[in-house]
Amino acid sequence: MKKYSFFLCLLLVFVAMSLSSVRSGLSQYFDFPPLPSKDKYGDVVMDNYSTKKGMKPVVFRHWTHRKSYTCRVCHSELYFMMYANATQVRERDNKRGRFCGACHNGKEAFAPETNDTKNCDKCHSYGNKGSQPDISTVLKGLPPNQYGNGVDWVKAIKNGVIHPKDSILDNPKERVRFDKDFYLRAEMAMIPPAKFLHSSHLPWLDCENCHPDIFDIKKKGTHFSMGENLKGRFCGGCHGKVSFPLQDCWRCHERGKRRRRRRR
Ligand code: HEC
Ligand code: HEC
Ligand code: HEC
Ligand code: HEC
Ligand code: HEC
Ligand code: HEC
Repeated sequence: MKKYSFFLCLLLVFVAMSLSSVRSGLSQYFDFPPLPSKDKYGDVVMDNYSTKKGMKPVVFRHWTHRKSYTCRVCHSELYFMMYANATQVRERDNKRGRFCGACHNGKEAFAPETNDTKNCDKCHSYGNKGSQPDISTVLKGLPPNQYGNGVDWVKAIKNGVIHPKDSILDNPKERVRFDKDFYLRAEMAMIPPAKFLHSSHLPWLDCENCHPDIFDIKKKGTHFSMGENLKGRFCGGCHGKVSFPLQDCWRCHERGKRRRRRRR
């Protein structure tokens, strides 16, 4: 037994070493995009029409909004696409209470225009200096993480530090429950499998945010690889853009997990 655990330790050390050398090696091999600073991570510049109409492009910040709303509010209830500039937003839609205007109506959040001020430049803020809120004030007290916005958003919601609204509709759809977790086995020796937990994702997301566009529901329907992730497909559809980035290897490839747990 003792002998066995000695070899187990040795193996774990080896796995750990190989992943960290793979990490420094691969981070050159796999062309990692440079990470923006914490207070720019997850920002989207929206400019399908603004520049053409003589307005500054819009800067949308995920970190100011996700503290108060789950992803599904915007990406399911309000039909914002999960690709920059894939949504066609017109100012008249906002005024009619769609898209940003579902909240920016003077009740839930500031409106484009009030009687005494025009708030256009709060949203049309690209290139404005000093228009950005201070991240350490807004995200004060949230559990820290090295990457992304510097916040462990999973813990923040699990530990009840934040209570983001999960719906802004009068009659919200009933949420489907599903908590199957699995380990996605690496097709490369010595790489610990990547874990995928439905239970960490569902507090934020709806089934339709991932199925069927990003992932097949069929068993082994998806052929994962880091190369594809880095191109923004599969896990990279969110991880690297809004959720913690791919540089955070150990959060997916769990340290010490061996390949013994087969995929499903
Ligand atoms: C308050 C609304 C709102 C919330 C909440 C929100 N998003 Fe977004 N998201 C947007 C908007 C607006 C865009 C830009 C869409 C466009 O340009 O067509 C966007 C874009 C994205 C993109 C594409 C980014 C890029 O650079 O291509 C991803 C990925 C994304 N969101 C994921 C998420 C995830 C994950 C969450 C939850 C943690 C989330 N969003 C929460 C409004 C929101
Ligand atoms: C689900 C509700 C919701 C939606 C949808 C939403 N917002 Fe907000 N937004 C808020 C709330 C709440 C605040 C903070 C309260 C306030 O400032 O009035 C806020 C604050 C802001 C701020 C000031 C803080 C910052 O990030 O600089 C900007 C700018 C902003 N929103 C832009 C947008 C844009 C652009 C869109 C659409 C692409 C959008 N919001 C969609 C709820 C929303
Ligand atoms: C809550 C955020 C928000 C506020 C406030 C806001 N806008 Fe916009 N606006 C947007 C978004 C998002 C778009 C789409 C950006 C794009 O793709 O170019 C947009 C697009 C536009 C466009 C181009 C599309 C079109 O409808 O022709 C104009 C013009 C415009 N806004 C004018 C204004 C004016 C004027 C104000 C102030 C009275 C204002 N906006 C306030 C979010 C906002
Ligand atoms: C968001 C989760 C996630 C993060 C973060 C992540 N990976 Fe992966 N990785 C995966 C998935 C999913 C696969 C495909 C299934 C599998 O091999 O486990 C994978 C596969 C791999 C493979 C196998 C070969 C291949 O291309 O499929 C290697 C090597 C790898 N990752 C290295 C890394 C390194 C090094 C890092 C950190 C720089 C990292 N990964 C960060 C999810 C992630
Ligand atoms: C963040 C993305 C994401 C969300 C949200 C999500 N899933 Fe999944 N789901 C996955 C991934 C990744 C797989 C594995 C796909 C593969 O192996 O090809 C999967 C697999 C499945 C499977 C196949 C399980 C098996 O044993 O083969 C079912 C069923 C499923 N999901 C149902 C759901 C339901 C129901 C919801 C909503 C309550 C949901 N999923 C939400 C990412 C997601
Ligand atoms: C549609 C968006 C989306 C996709 C696609 C997605 N994730 Fe996530 N993931 C999230 C969000 C949101 C969180 C919450 C943490 C954050 O935003 O940083 C999260 C958190 C996680 C966590 C942290 C779990 C914890 O308990 O701390 C892991 C691990 C993870 N994802 C792995 C994966 C893997 C592996 C894939 C691909 C098979 C994947 N994710 C695909 C949005 C996504």
